[in-house]
Amino acid sequence: EWADKGAAKIVRDVTNPDTGQTTKEVIKKGIRDFKFGDTLGDGSYSTVMVATARDSGKKYAVKVLSKEYLIRQKKVKYVNIEKNALQRLNNSKGIIRLYFTFQDEASLYFLLEYAPNGDFLSVMKKYGSLSEECTCYYSAQIIDAIKHLHLRGIIHRDIKPENVLLDKEMKVKLTDFGTAKLLDGQPYDSGDKYDLHTRSKSFVGTAEYVSPELLNDNWVDYRCDIWAFGCIVFQMIAGKPPFKATNEYLTFQKVMKVQYAFTAGFPVIVRDLVKRILLRQPDQRLTISQIEKHYFFRDKNFKDGSIWSEPAPEIQPYRV
Ligand code: ADE
Repeated sequence: EWADKGAAKIVRDVTNPDTGQTTKEVIKKGIRDFKFGDTLGDGSYSTVMVATARDSGKKYAVKVLSKEYLIRQKKVKYVNIEKNALQRLNNSKGIIRLYFTFQDEASLYFLLEYAPNGDFLSVMKKYGSLSEECTCYYSAQIIDAIKHLHLRGIIHRDIKPENVLLDKEMKVKLTDFGTAKLLDGQPYDSGDKYDLHTRSKSFVGTAEYVSPELLNDNWVDYRCDIWAFGCIVFQMIAGKPPFKATNEYLTFQKVMKVQYAFTAGFPVIVRDLVKRILLRQPDQRLTISQIEKHYFFRDKNFKDGSIWSEPAPEIQPYRV
């Protein structure tokens, strides 16, 4: 029942050899239609592998979740959230696509778009930091992807470089919606309105990217994703996230106090952008539409789709 809505159905004509009568037979695409390959990553309750369709040879990323584990750990809710979020976001620019879902006795399967260039954290680690041009290119796509999920009434709540994947053309694809918050009712239609919010009881994202309001007031809304975006922009240039300490507790202390320092030679324009996002009070932070109008993005047009069609710049580290 769980897998039915998202599963692919193929209708085939079957002719009875005795009567010559042709009837339609519905065949559901199943896990046997894919060949499993290398492991791409392990989450806390899932494993992602490369899967190749036996008929077309098309590659997917299959996320496998153990039913027994999900039930034991009471994570079933999160899997449904992830599935619903991805279905709501299907065809959104900058979001990983969910193609099919299946299940067998042991597992649930998400057949996702395969992003062959891995995640953004690995890219940043490999180069140490990113040039202003690269930072501008990737951050424009990340903020546009965040805009799309907010427009559909979804708060991601765990935006971080590991959850930013890169497709074959080095275009951004956000993933991992297991901790997302889906707002019901009509999604907001203005980049400047943030009256929909959510109380998050036990959930905390990743220490380095968590917003101060979550730690101080146990409360977040759309603006927690913008905070995380500010942290990522800082990290692209500086090579490390703005709030980082030897342990999670000390990291939380820094976040709560908004205690961070720009690295030497940090470009003035990017500094200005980050400073206007990493503010303790969510209502003082730039909104997405204000971010898009910031001088750092003066050469980007967020309206005509060009940020998604322009070729990716050659990756280079930031040099002071
Ligand atoms: N790692 C996790 N999800 C992935 C995906 N969809 N493509 C490539 N690598 C991944």
